[in-house]
Amino acid sequence: MEDSNRSGNASLHEISDPARRTVLRLSMGAAAAALYGPMLGACASPRPGPLLGFTSVPPSRLDSVIVPPGYAAQVIAPWGEPVGVPGAMPPWRPDAGHSAAEQALQMGMHHDGIQYYPLDGSTRGLLAMNHEYVDDGLLHPDGRADWSAEKVRKAQAAHGVSVIEVAQAHGQWQMVRPSRYARRFTAATPFAVGGPAAGHALMRTAADPAGRTVLGTLNNCASGMTPWGTYLSGEENWAGYFDGGDTITEDQRRWGLRPASWARWGQHDERFDARRHPNEFHRFGWVVEIDPSDPGSTPVKRTALGRAAHEGAWVAVTKDGRAVVYSGEDAAFEYIYKFVSRDRIAPGGAAANRELLDHGTLYVARFDADGRGRWLPLVHGQGPLTAANGFADPGEVVIKARQASDRLGATRMDRPEWLAIDPRSGTVYCTLTNNSGRGAPGSPGVDAANPRERNTMGHIIRWQEDGDFHATTFAWNHLVLAGDPANERPEARGNVKGDFFGSPDGLVFDPRGLLWIQTDVSSSVMHQGDYARAGNNQMLACDVATGEVRRFLTGPTGCEITGAAFTPDARTLFVNVQHPGETPRDISDPSDPMKYSRWPDGRAARRPRSATVVIRKLDGGPIGS
Ligand code: FEO
Ligand code: CA
Ligand code: CA
Repeated sequence: MEDSNRSGNASLHEISDPARRTVLRLSMGAAAAALYGPMLGACASPRPGPLLGFTSVPPSRLDSVIVPPGYAAQVIAPWGEPVGVPGAMPPWRPDAGHSAAEQALQMGMHHDGIQYYPLDGSTRGLLAMNHEYVDDGLLHPDGRADWSAEKVRKAQAAHGVSVIEVAQAHGQWQMVRPSRYARRFTAATPFAVGGPAAGHALMRTAADPAGRTVLGTLNNCASGMTPWGTYLSGEENWAGYFDGGDTITEDQRRWGLRPASWARWGQHDERFDARRHPNEFHRFGWVVEIDPSDPGSTPVKRTALGRAAHEGAWVAVTKDGRAVVYSGEDAAFEYIYKFVSRDRIAPGGAAANRELLDHGTLYVARFDADGRGRWLPLVHGQGPLTAANGFADPGEVVIKARQASDRLGATRMDRPEWLAIDPRSGTVYCTLTNNSGRGAPGSPGVDAANPRERNTMGHIIRWQEDGDFHATTFAWNHLVLAGDPANERPEARGNVKGDFFGSPDGLVFDPRGLLWIQTDVSSSVMHQGDYARAGNNQMLACDVATGEVRRFLTGPTGCEITGAAFTPDARTLFVNVQHPGETPRDISDPSDPMKYSRWPDGRAARRPRSATVVIRKLDGGPIGS
């Protein structure tokens, strides 16, 4: 987790009283639901009764996935399985002895955000999913020993995004292989650049003098689906992959560049040596757009959405048909953004909307102490965003979105992770996973939106735009301050009551309107202190109308639960289990890779693997009912 915001943007000490809780104005609900609905596909019928119908599962420390009585969980698509490219399906090798070239045709490591794209309704479709990073101790038979160019290439091949075809038969889901849709995007895949930074001087490199083609996407964390059928993926912790040496500039420092990268790619791939190729550093940190249904399409980095440690990106639709893309950056004291497209979404799917996300206005959020908020425009020439202040043109504003947000006085948040938009009310929710540095010496103190010092448990904030999604003002409050004992009393603070959890990360509304919350408690604090009560990382469901939260799934030892995709009928749920068996130091011991977990392959396994879990209700009903 990166922490480089030294701006002087306001904290509570300067602005007001933390005790207030604003009631959201739910004025736009029905209209928003009607407009937001299409992006969810064919929704299940409106709620006939209580949304939450399952029996909560207890906290777990078992090395397995636990789901409620009446539900079944099945594992598909673990790391190393061939994705199904016709004629090129290298098999998984239990000793991880596959080559870099083979890895580039197999599922990557560390599954994260995931979306389902129907090919045949809710029984056959495509899954697009991210592979956030790797554990080099598991990825190579001998771990990080004898570090080599081949190991760097293999690590790069295990990053990125997979597109696979899946189908259901007799209640079970399987990968369809071969499939003409099967595809991997890695750190070597050419991406086009769209938006104001395309061709910009700060994007040009020796290998790409035009500044319009970038090799690869990195650290893809959360995901979103557009109403025109594409996949949005956020590049999150990319800054940690570059070596800065001892000549780091102030601008590079603001992005978290350090003298030496833990990934050690720069030792064998000079692209990642920022001393030799400083502009390569500008070519990551974007939201990337992929069309899963067109295997020949070129993926695009959408620079109009701003450069950041993007967790992901999520789309709402205004009443007049424009796209509004919400995005946060998961780093301590960083910001929440939204982009409003200039043009309306055109009928005709991805082909008709190829440049939609290249033109529009980017904003950053300021949460005021009175429960109101304002979107501050990152527009070149407006306010402080001038050449005199280091923003020569619109391209430089988006490349330096953090510095621009510092200048505008945006609110420094407690690590914004996923966002989710309630399809019924239009309320936007965002997880703020934790920030133990809040209030530490030399760090910002609390503010109204981030009201706890040493925020180890995290919280969920929500807001309602004034009138429509493109509005520049909004009303906000908290859904929950996680771990607050008040949550367990009937008059629960923030209106939430129910099962205990902390470090909320994944956040997804299902087609019936349940809000699903996934946790990412760090291995370094798991089962310790307040987290002794939480057990392994987990997934919970919240009925935002009643505030009730129930624990639905607990994951295996050392994992993170992240990414959730529902079929349109809400009867199948795909969930990703990331880094089962993660060690407190993140990198496994290759001489004993099974020390912490044998999930999902069990006793015969030689190393744990990230994988997708498919969940069905035994009676065929909607998930969560
Ligand atoms: Fe990759 Fe912010 O979690
Ligand atoms: Ca995350
Ligand atoms: Ca996280």
